[in-house]
Amino acid sequence: MQPFEGKTVVVSGGAEGIGLSIAQAMGRRGMNVVLTDIDAGQLEVARQALETEGVPVLALPLDVARLEQWQAVAEQAIARFGKVHMLVNNAGVGGTAGGIDNTDEREWRWVVDVNLMGVAFGAQVMVPLMKSHGEGGWLVNVASMAGFGPLPNAAPYTGTKAAVVGMSEGWRMELAPENIKVSVLCPGFVNTRIYDSGRNKPDGVAPATADNAEDMKAFLEAVVTTGMDVAVVGERVVEALLADETYIFTHPNYRASVKARWQAVDAAFERAAQSPLLTDAVVPDLPFAG
Ligand SMILES: NC(=O)c1ccc[n+]([C@@H]2O[C@H](COP(=O)([O-])OP(=O)(O)OC[C@H]3O[C@@H](n4cnc5c(N)ncnc54)[C@H](O)[C@@H]3O)[C@@H](O)[C@H]2O)c1
Repeated sequence: MQPFEGKTVVVSGGAEGIGLSIAQAMGRRGMNVVLTDIDAGQLEVARQALETEGVPVLALPLDVARLEQWQAVAEQAIARFGKVHMLVNNAGVGGTAGGIDNTDEREWRWVVDVNLMGVAFGAQVMVPLMKSHGEGGWLVNVASMAGFGPLPNAAPYTGTKAAVVGMSEGWRMELAPENIKVSVLCPGFVNTRIYDSGRNKPDGVAPATADNAEDMKAFLEAVVTTGMDVAVVGERVVEALLADETYIFTHPNYRASVKARWQAVDAAFERAAQSPLLTDAVVPDLPFAG
C-alpha cells in the first residue's frame, strides 16, 4: 500500500540539505510538494530539480519566523493542490558558536525565532488544514541529536532542539485522535551547509562575539562535511513514517550516549525514591498516559 500517493506535503527550508532530501523522497512516493524557503535563488534551483524528476511542485518564499508568511503559504497550497496532508517543519539554523557569557541577545532571538517559533507557527497554520479534511496526516518536526544530549557552546541550538523534541511528544498525543501522526527527526551530523547558516541571518543580528568563534565554525564545518550523505536522510524518513516511528534516528552509533543519559536520569530517580525527605511526601500520579 502506498499511503503518500496523490497527497500533498509542505516542506520548510526545502531549498537544499535535509529539507530537499525529504522533499525528493516524498516526491518519489507520488506526493505533491509545496517547497518553501527563505533563500529565493536556491529555492528556484531546487524547484527545477524536483520538476525534472516529474514531481508536481509549488515553490514559495517563506521565512518560518513570520506567521503571516505561513498563512500565505497555506492559502496558495490549498489553491494549487486542494488539501495539505503532511508538514515537514525542517527549516533550522545552527546559530553562531559561543559560550554562555558571549551569546548576544539578538543571536538568541534569531535561533529561537527560526528553530522554535518557526516550528510552532508551521504547526499552528498547517495542522488545522489537515484536520479539516478528516483523512489524517503527518507532522514531521526536524530536531537533532542535540535535542537529546549536550553540545557545549551552542545553547540556543540545543535549547531549541530539545524544545522541538518535547513539543513533538506532546503533539503526538494531542493529534492522535485526528489520525495525524507526529514524528521528530533527530539526525547526527549530515553533510549540508548547516555550518554556514549565518548566510540566512536577518539584518541586525549581531556577529559572533566569542574569541574562538572562527575556530568553532571551522570545527563544525569539518564534522558536518564529513557527515552522512544527505540523500540517505529523506529515504530514512519515508522508512520511519511507514513504520509510524515517533523518534526518527539516522545515526545508530549515538545510541550509547543517549542510553548513558537515560541511565543517569534513572539513577537520579532511584536516589529520589530512597530520599527520607520524600518517603511521606504526597506525590500525585501522572494525569495522562506517557
Ligand atoms: N546537517 C546536520 O548535521 C544536522 C544535524 C541535526 C539536525 N539538523 C537540522 O536539519 C534541518 C535542516 O538543516 P540542514 O542541515 O539541511 O541545513 P542547510 O543549511 O543545508 O539547510 C537549511 C535550509 O533552511 C533554510 N532556512 C534558513 N533560515 C530559514 C528561515 N528563517 N525560514 C525558512 N527557511 C530558512 C535555508 O535557506 C536552507 O535551505 C535544521 O533544522 C537543522 O537544525 C541538521
